[in-house]
Amino acid sequence: MWKATILWVLLTLEPSEGLFRSLYRNVRVCNPSHRDPGQPLFLTPYIKSGKIQEGKQLSLVGPFPGANVKSYSGYLTVNETYNSNLFFWFFPAQENPNDAPVVLWLQGGPGGSSMFGLFVEHGPYVVNKNLTVRARDFPWTAKFSMLYIDNPTGTGFSFTDDARGFAASEDDVARDLYSALTQFFQLFPEYRKNDFYATGESYAGKYVPAIAYYIHLLNPTAKVKINLKGVAIGDGFSDPETIIGGYPGFLYHIGLLDEKQKKYFQKQCAETIKYIKQEKWRKAFEIFDNLMNGDLTSYPSYFQNSTGCSYYFNFLQCQEPEEEKYFGDFLSLPEVRRAIHVGNLTFHDGSEVEKHMWADWFKSVKPWLAEIMNNYRISLGHMMMMMVMIANIYTALTVCQVLIYSGQLDIIVAAPLTERSLLVTNWKGLRDYKKVDKKIWRVHSSDVEVAGYVRQVGDFHQVIVRGGGHILPNDQPLRSFDMINRFIFGKGWEPY
Ligand SMILES: *[C@@H]1O[C@H](CO)[C@@H](O)[C@H](O)[C@H]1NC(C)=O
Ligand SMILES: *[C@@H]1O[C@H](CO)[C@@H](O)[C@H](O)[C@H]1NC(C)=O
Ligand SMILES: *[C@@H]1O[C@H](CO)[C@@H](O)[C@H](O)[C@H]1NC(C)=O
Ligand SMILES: *[C@@H]1O[C@H](CO)[C@@H](O)[C@H](O)[C@H]1NC(C)=O
Repeated sequence: MWKATILWVLLTLEPSEGLFRSLYRNVRVCNPSHRDPGQPLFLTPYIKSGKIQEGKQLSLVGPFPGANVKSYSGYLTVNETYNSNLFFWFFPAQENPNDAPVVLWLQGGPGGSSMFGLFVEHGPYVVNKNLTVRARDFPWTAKFSMLYIDNPTGTGFSFTDDARGFAASEDDVARDLYSALTQFFQLFPEYRKNDFYATGESYAGKYVPAIAYYIHLLNPTAKVKINLKGVAIGDGFSDPETIIGGYPGFLYHIGLLDEKQKKYFQKQCAETIKYIKQEKWRKAFEIFDNLMNGDLTSYPSYFQNSTGCSYYFNFLQCQEPEEEKYFGDFLSLPEVRRAIHVGNLTFHDGSEVEKHMWADWFKSVKPWLAEIMNNYRISLGHMMMMMVMIANIYTALTVCQVLIYSGQLDIIVAAPLTERSLLVTNWKGLRDYKKVDKKIWRVHSSDVEVAGYVRQVGDFHQVIVRGGGHILPNDQPLRSFDMINRFIFGKGWEPY
């Protein structure tokens, strides 16, 4: 009865658009009608009773239409009181799976499903219009073991049975995610020794620092240690206040606002920032919503009115590309649901998640990010190296590689807005970052085109990728793949 009520409420809600979720929201995933979708697979009981082999065997993904690579999926129960469960889909690397780094991918939103990243950005599959899958060019799964998790609870296939099971803060997000990760490494102990990276884009610019900071804090005393080696954040909404302050100028300079509209934007952004400073999160949310999103209103946002565009992920495109929605229909197929062990469970569009997170929207995770950045490795011979080493011995601090990347054509977390927030992030490399010369990055030495630009201080890398927007790996598959390879394997930025 309780479940039926929740379902009814979800179905009767006006679909609301999230800051970074508008695109995911349009994806419709239906529950299957007649053919058998199988049963959802809950793995926590197997982990708890030590039936690791059995649980792992059951989680092996079955065949579905089109190309298939070996993968595992199922649910991990992260809060028994509220029956909160996170859905994961794991792809061991196609090359050298025994030693390849394990890379966690988190979608933004809040409330965007990581199935988007899997099917649209860097998983092994692309969905065709006729709902078969084909192999992607340059999937990240070629070199890395990719772990896609629908996060936080209530996103995509992840669910909870109680309103209190939803995350309301980044602490809640990190707590549930950490539980899922420790269970994952119990189910797949052979991957525990491999390097681990937390990555994601957009609103995950908050989740990634949150989970990395949590791991960093808990690792010294944890039974299941997570071998955190670094983080990568794409077009991250980590520090809302500085990002918002940059909109009027940025939109004006790329020709989307005229002088008069810029003034209106300046006024509204200043108002939003004022409320952020006063910690009046609801007020800030309302003004910003009116300006950019129009979730709370029945009319289009000021941004939509003044640009004529409903898409703010790439300033060369006005509408969401059709093919980015195919995966929703694919995930509705009973044979796919059976193969990935979700049964007939509802795929959530994330609007409930967004509602529970509104007070989190404009809070910055800058202090956590700075803490992670402060633990970056610096070049040998540097005086600080000694101090870091000593600190490491005594406090077992994780030494972290950090990549902050932007798509040059993104609007919503545009490259100069990210740069703006890096300049006010108080970390020990700030002075060097301001002074360092930008490098020009080409994938191959024979390339005429430039792939992007890099500013590097030790193991901190800031990258701007040319020719791509917010959904960068879809726009620029080769450059994105080359970027993540160079970063994780420490190959430098010289052309091959
Ligand atoms: C379950 O969620 C509640 C509410 O967020 C929280 O107080 C509690 O600590 C959680 N339990 C576990 C085991 O994480
Ligand atoms: C589906 O579409 C793909 C790509 O257009 C094509 O290669 C494939 O043969 C089609 N499969 C079926 C069953 O129609
Ligand atoms: C956008 O235009 C519509 C129609 O003219 C109007 O009703 C609405 O108030 C405008 N939105 C904003 C935020 O000004
Ligand atoms: C899923 O199927 C079970 C019976 O197998 C049924 O009780 C339940 O209501 C269904 N859930 C949804 C969301 O359709």
